[in-house]
Amino acid sequence: MSPYAHITGWGMAVPERVMTNDDIAKMVDTSDEWIQSMTGIRERRIANDEQTTASLAADAARKALNVANLKPADLDLIIVSTSSPEHTFPSTASLVQDRLGAYKAGAFDLLAACTGFIYGVKLATDSIRADAIKNALVIGAETLSRLVNWNDRNTCILFGDGAGAFVLQAAEDTGGVLSSVLRSDGSGAELLSLPGGGSRYPTSPDTLKNGMHYIQMNGREVFRFATRVMAQATEEAVEKANITMDDIHLVIPHQANKRIIEAAARGMNIPIERCYMNLDRYGNTSTASIPIATCEAIQQGRIHPGDKIVFVGFGAGLTWGAAVALWSGPLTTRRIIYPARYRFYARLRSILLRWLRRIDAIIWGRYHNSG
Ligand code: ACO
Repeated sequence: MSPYAHITGWGMAVPERVMTNDDIAKMVDTSDEWIQSMTGIRERRIANDEQTTASLAADAARKALNVANLKPADLDLIIVSTSSPEHTFPSTASLVQDRLGAYKAGAFDLLAACTGFIYGVKLATDSIRADAIKNALVIGAETLSRLVNWNDRNTCILFGDGAGAFVLQAAEDTGGVLSSVLRSDGSGAELLSLPGGGSRYPTSPDTLKNGMHYIQMNGREVFRFATRVMAQATEEAVEKANITMDDIHLVIPHQANKRIIEAAARGMNIPIERCYMNLDRYGNTSTASIPIATCEAIQQGRIHPGDKIVFVGFGAGLTWGAAVALWSGPLTTRRIIYPARYRFYARLRSILLRWLRRIDAIIWGRYHNSG
């Protein structure tokens, strides 16, 4: 029998710096009242100069590994979902792999905007179910504050920085991720995009002059799309898992806008109390929002072993998707792990590898020049 993919670890990392709606009202023509009533957001976290997508991702990942009682070397696969990668390449996932010292893991980035975390969970689940891997780390991480035009009140009020991570592990007991639905509609690509800086519009004085290096959004159209697909994807995923909405204890939606979540709850025919929300404190952290919300729901005692949970999201692409999980928590194990030690080893390993590469290049150069 193929193993199940259980969610056995979770962690989140958000910057300490809080930016309130009043702070934003000092930069653009808006108000706390408008932002709260139209979005439900009160404040968001903004990365400081030292914090990056990879650093937040690694912090969230270490916490998730601790909960799962896993060493970085136990990981077979690291997926980082992000729309604000550190670079076009190398992948942020490889930088995280190095920071963790996960030397047996493959690592890659995944771009499906705010739906990316659900895509990542689905890929990790399928790899585990196919018996190709045992332990996977899926991270959603963003520093969208660096890609937002702080003079554009349509977008700058919405986004925040942060990261969240799940560990998924193979286990024989029935449970974990039971079903998932992934969708995309690229005909809506221009509704939400960051057009400049890629191969279509390489960075140039013109792209910079036209603000093509900032997030551009048709908020009203994204809103209409989101309210349509959230309930639809949830219902499909629930049906695929052979259960009904009555079996669902908690829905963890992408935290974009309170009004979108309320409309989705109406579409799903469930009371709003069954949808978890923490966007008032973090804004829209894009692909990080679902794992961050999950961590806080667990802290607040809203998720227990045996509960059936739905994760549902939408985003640029356009993309949308949902997954149903039977919550199990960490696998029982008596082994002891040493997180501080692994952090030290990872740093040391990374420094040594860089030095070895330099020495190797010198020796290789001498050998070839002498020939
Ligand atoms: N403060 C004050 N007034 C504002 C602001 C603001 N920050 N922004 C817009 N307005 C004004 C507009 O100028 C407009 O004024 P007008 O009627 O005089 O022209 C009025 O408010 C209404 O503007 P709309 O943009 O039509 O407002 P809407 O009801 O659509 O709400 C919002 C805007 C909150 C952005 C909403 O459209 C929304 O939440 N959309 C979804 C966005 C979203 O979730 N994006 C993330 C997707 S996830 C991802 O992939 C990253």
